Amino acid sequence: MTDSPSFADRLVAWQKTAGRRDLPWQNSRDPYRVWLSEIMLQQTQVATVIPYYQRFLARFPDIRALAAAAVGTVMEHWAGLGYYARARNLHRCAQEIVACHAGRFPATAAALEELPGIGRSTAAAVAAFAFGERAAILDGNVKRVLCRHFAIDGFPGAAAVHRQLWQLAENLLPQHDIEAYTQGLMDLGAGICTRRRPVCERCPLTVDCQARQQGRQAVLPAARPRSALPERTATFVLLRDGGRLLLERRPPIGLWGGLLAPPEGAVDAVLIRLGLRARACRPLPPLRHTLTHFRLTLEPVLCDVEASPRLAEPGYEWVALEQAATAGVPTPIGKLLRQVASAAD
Ligand code: ADE
Repeated sequence: MTDSPSFADRLVAWQKTAGRRDLPWQNSRDPYRVWLSEIMLQQTQVATVIPYYQRFLARFPDIRALAAAAVGTVMEHWAGLGYYARARNLHRCAQEIVACHAGRFPATAAALEELPGIGRSTAAAVAAFAFGERAAILDGNVKRVLCRHFAIDGFPGAAAVHRQLWQLAENLLPQHDIEAYTQGLMDLGAGICTRRRPVCERCPLTVDCQARQQGRQAVLPAARPRSALPERTATFVLLRDGGRLLLERRPPIGLWGGLLAPPEGAVDAVLIRLGLRARACRPLPPLRHTLTHFRLTLEPVLCDVEASPRLAEPGYEWVALEQAATAGVPTPIGKLLRQVASAAD
């Protein structure tokens, strides 16, 4: 019995029958054309690129024509394609190839990657298409294909996942047919294993696709983790008169609107506002709490005071320390007050 065809075998066979074979930059091994198309195709769809590619090539038919042009003329021919750093790097790259490589493209992925605007994946694509080098590509589409096929969890932009994907991309390379294989990966990512609604029924790799088996096409690859929540700190002044603690009703809007809590603010400001003098104050250990939109560090300060008549008015409540945590305060304040009650001397 023979092994079932490998990932690469199936992809190559599929590319040769169902893949794209008549794009204007295909069927040419001219590295200038291959390179130009790969730069234009970064983050840009084939249909958008085609007319730009043709106009650009008519105006700058080879690397020397491009290198000799004024950068402004190059930019004019790029206008509308977006990501303009690509055009500036394209021009610099052409000048460097003329100045340092006698107008000939270096013929390996490693050497191509040294040039302006050519990253690892683009270098590999040019080396594969122009020179037949067995080099692995890994653009956004390919990451999606690999994350799904092998059910790789984790955000592909995370360093460890990224390393794993490159390793996988290298391991999957076929011994021959590198052009069809590389183009097949691109075609699959662009037309079948699409971000939304992949067409798994037409995928040549579907039988052993882990995401499909697990029904997880929609959640792989994992989304970028949400950025860290902003940090805020708030001081709460625990005003203690014997065994009682002052709680104040918070304004109706804002954080914990309308709930009771110890007064919030810098110690001096709170004491002045309430007309109190403290006999002694000491900070207590802070407490961290995560809310929907930020992370809050509560910094309690315990102050011994003598209650004033003003603080018998509505809006203020002196509550026994042991009951304060259950007097209708917000959850993290309750936690804070329980800590204080158990630690208070
Ligand atoms: N995307 C990036 N390179 C491509 C290529 N050579 N053909 C089609 N789409 C691509």
